[in-house]
Amino acid sequence: MLHIIDHPLIAHELTALRCPSCGTGQFRHHVRRIASLMVPSVTQDFATQALSCQTPLEQTEGRHLSRDVILVPILRAGLGFVDGFLDMLPNASIAHVGIARNERTLLPEPYYLKHPPHVAEAEVLILDPMLATGGSAVEAVRCLVDAGATSLRFVCLVAAPEGISALTAAYPQVRIFTASLDRQINAQGYILPGLGDAGDRLFGTA
Ligand code: PRP
Ligand code: URA
Repeated sequence: MLHIIDHPLIAHELTALRCPSCGTGQFRHHVRRIASLMVPSVTQDFATQALSCQTPLEQTEGRHLSRDVILVPILRAGLGFVDGFLDMLPNASIAHVGIARNERTLLPEPYYLKHPPHVAEAEVLILDPMLATGGSAVEAVRCLVDAGATSLRFVCLVAAPEGISALTAAYPQVRIFTASLDRQINAQGYILPGLGDAGDRLFGTA
């Protein structure tokens, strides 16, 4: 299931981010703001429970989230999303999954996984700015399903149709949220029009 989060503020930030003259500091800033702006759409149908609460004037009924939230950035570039999500979900736990895309074969190479013990009971949000071939996303979902995750969403900035197809074919139950559906990937595995190498731009390693 694909959700394209079409919002004027996100489109504005994303356009600034795509520009090659957007430097590392500004790039981080835009990614963080887009991440925060995506949170209401990504969490819109999270279950809540009624909760009795006291105001200064009287007793009333409020609501709180039924399930904990676990954010899972795919290292490295997914780290760029974490602060924006934490701004809106300050109590979320954070798991890490390390997956490097082999630059020659474009195949994902997993190298690290650390998650909190309650992954099966939580809402799990996998974060990565780029969904290109989909190899890294499929591998990340596989790691988390093996770890017991039952409710998984994948959140990215820019997705290619190839990546959407690969992730949907492998895990149709995983909802995909993106700020943009771009045209295609090129022979080197980069998304067109895209924004270049998200990890290098976030960490200044180009
Ligand atoms: C990039 C990106 C995704 C992956 C997407 O990471 O952040 O994880 O490529 O490509 P795919 O859909 O074809 O798998 P990369 O492996 O370059 O590592 P980095 O985050 O360290 O830059
Ligand atoms: N990874 C990136 O960082 N950018 C792309 O365009 C594709 C994969």
